[in-house]
Amino acid sequence: MKNVIMDVDTGVDDALGIIMAIKSRKINVLGITTVAGNVGAKQAAINTKKVLYFLNEMNIPVLSGSETSCRGEYITGSNMHGIDGLFGALRDVEIETNEIHEGRAVEYLIETIMENKDKGTTLILTAPLTNLALALKRAPYIKGFIEEAIIMGGAVECPGNITPYAEFNIYKDPEAADLVMNSGIRITMVTLDVTNKVILNRNHINKIINTNLKELVSSITEPWINRYKNKYGIEGCLVHDPLTVAYAIDRTIIKTRRTNIDIVKGDAIQRGKLERKDDGPSCINVSIEVDDVKFEKVFLECLNI
Ligand code: BDR
Ligand code: CA
Repeated sequence: MKNVIMDVDTGVDDALGIIMAIKSRKINVLGITTVAGNVGAKQAAINTKKVLYFLNEMNIPVLSGSETSCRGEYITGSNMHGIDGLFGALRDVEIETNEIHEGRAVEYLIETIMENKDKGTTLILTAPLTNLALALKRAPYIKGFIEEAIIMGGAVECPGNITPYAEFNIYKDPEAADLVMNSGIRITMVTLDVTNKVILNRNHINKIINTNLKELVSSITEPWINRYKNKYGIEGCLVHDPLTVAYAIDRTIIKTRRTNIDIVKGDAIQRGKLERKDDGPSCINVSIEVDDVKFEKVFLECLNI
């Protein structure tokens, strides 16, 4: 089993990714850190804790992190995930504020990576990259002990989803993404080029055997599926973050290519855009092809454990 820390902004698709990771027999989730993105970092931590409560996994630590980007701007959501991030699902689960270790995410990342330095730690990041960037700034030595960072973010060939150029997670903190991509860590980017090609629909959800879990997944995804229908005419929803977790579980789901990438920063209109360049240290694995049938298989295998 791989030791994993997840960094999330829970979020409908983050929640699905967390459920997959927790249930998978290939991943050992050491802890979950949160950052502002779909919702604020504290709200994302509350949502994460609620999901863990549902899964009866209350011992996995949840720590909230940055509410602002590296430039100090408050990160606000895309409004795609409802006001609380989970469309009111799990609203009856009460979480004590002391259960979410507010503001401790960066410290936790550094400590836990160092505690597990013999085995190495894989990071699955499905949110803006602020927490990891801050951890690398504070303790650059941790990079030697990060086995891999698997990141949901960016768009190379296709248009963005928050601006015509940029994908949400990278757009919200391109300065952080730039620092992470140039850190020398082994990185795989699961970009919109592949996540736009995998749709989770009601038929898939109906194949979840556990009735309570099926109900939870439906209550989170149903409003999202309706939004996709109204906005894009799609029957189902995109699953950016679960696909990223699925790749950590089964490397054959996504094909990648080594690519040098630059990120547009500052106030340029293309802020957050990923640009291919000829050479440089930011040589990373970028997703190019996806097997959506395999994704469905891995998704259901995890949820039906
Ligand atoms: C990413 O942005 C967020 O809205 C999703 O949770 C996903 O991580 C997709 O662009
Ligand atoms: Ca996310």
